[in-house]
Amino acid sequence: MHVPKRSAYWAVIPAAGVGERMRADIPKQYLKIHHQSILEHAINCLLTHNDIAGVVVAVAENDTMWQNLSFSTHKPVITTMGGRERYHSVKNALDRLSSIANENDWVLVHDAARPCLRHQDIDQLIKVLREHPVGGLLACPVRDTMKRSDENETVIQTVDRATLWHALTPQMFRIKQLRHALQAAIDHQVQVTDEAAAMERLGLQPKLVRGHADNIKVTTPEDLQLAAFYLTRLIDT
Ligand code: C5P
Repeated sequence: MHVPKRSAYWAVIPAAGVGERMRADIPKQYLKIHHQSILEHAINCLLTHNDIAGVVVAVAENDTMWQNLSFSTHKPVITTMGGRERYHSVKNALDRLSSIANENDWVLVHDAARPCLRHQDIDQLIKVLREHPVGGLLACPVRDTMKRSDENETVIQTVDRATLWHALTPQMFRIKQLRHALQAAIDHQVQVTDEAAAMERLGLQPKLVRGHADNIKVTTPEDLQLAAFYLTRLIDT
């Protein structure tokens, strides 16, 4: 009897940004929270999850800090060169991943700057999407009333928030489909700020999977304190 091989789950982490809004003298993913860099928190959460087979990290060409990180794992942790924008970095990492993974395996793309991810959110993402034809992303519903403005920062419209979500990461798609979607965006010079947007361009409909709102992307100096607070709570529970 032919038993189909189960798809594996891999992680890709774009970590080649400089994080200008952080105004720090090193790239924000290398700033430390509780003795570990933001990037180590993000990678370790993925590596210590039972379903994740390995990680490909895109680092900047002039990166001098990656070599100082350490991970206690037998799983592969592979680096590749980052690109001009986030989606170029992800595409490079997928190209590298394709040399060790099956093209129908799943990939979870996670921002280097999100250190507060939980195993519970990865579990939920995989549980909801493992049989899904497209894939999807962690997200949480918008809470505040939403306004649209003109170029003078004057309100022109109140937008119905009932159907609005914050797109978080990880975002989970099949390696082959996501590679194709990102290449299409690059070929057509369309800037996509997340993987789902690249898939949507092809008419596909990613699924939203409710995640924890504290899975924040560290962007400004205030976020660093908030992430430290959230991480303390996660460690304590
Ligand atoms: O700058 P922002 O926080 O939106 O970046 C999101 C993620 O994309 C970060 O993990 C950052 O390191 C990564 N990135 C990248 N290559 C770029 C720009 C950003 O890997 N050229």
